[in-house]
Amino acid sequence: MTDFRVYVLRLGHRLLRDARVTTHVLLTARAFGASGAIYSGERDAKLEETVRDVVERWGGDFEVRYEKDWRSVLSGWKDRGSICHLTMYGIPVDECIDEIPRVGDILVVVGSKKVPRDVYELADFNIAIGNQPHSEVAALAVFLDRLFGGEELKREFNGAKIRIIPQRRGKKVKVSKS
Ligand SMILES: C[S@@+](CC[C@H](N)C(=O)[O-])C[C@H]1O[C@@H](n2cnc3c(N)ncnc32)[C@H](O)[C@@H]1O
Repeated sequence: MTDFRVYVLRLGHRLLRDARVTTHVLLTARAFGASGAIYSGERDAKLEETVRDVVERWGGDFEVRYEKDWRSVLSGWKDRGSICHLTMYGIPVDECIDEIPRVGDILVVVGSKKVPRDVYELADFNIAIGNQPHSEVAALAVFLDRLFGGEELKREFNGAKIRIIPQRRGKKVKVSKS
């Protein structure tokens, strides 16, 4: 266990264009140790339902919620902990990861379309996962893995109805009814 919790803020969700990628952002956040996610842009009931269904079956306490006013999330976070904005224009992750305070709640911000200028100003850290353009899903996975030092992949998800029993070949799944 860590002394800090991590939440992800996904900016600029578009119902038609981003349904799949935002789902992957949220599932990656959950699988890589975040405690919850907030998304902004267009409200998407299907997205929320998909993520809640995964949590229901695969366990853990991951929460997802919509917030229209992402600026208020960022300004409100100042009392809660630090804000890490993932951007290819930022400082290479390995040069700044140790500066991030491991107390309170860390908010990791990822964009979709062009990210507004004030996000760069409101963030405590603008962090690059390499300085090449790629994907919010890839950036988030690498960032969380660096932040948790790989320990997040060993976590147990409490209350899981489905568990995978790892196999060198084939698939073994344990399903509990409760
Ligand atoms: C597909 S990119 C689009 C970015 C947009 N064109 C802009 O200039 O803000 C979507 C998101 O992926 C993340 N991303 C992409 N490449 C990244 C990198 N090299 N380092 C960190 N984050 C990255 C950022 O969070 C970005 O907002």
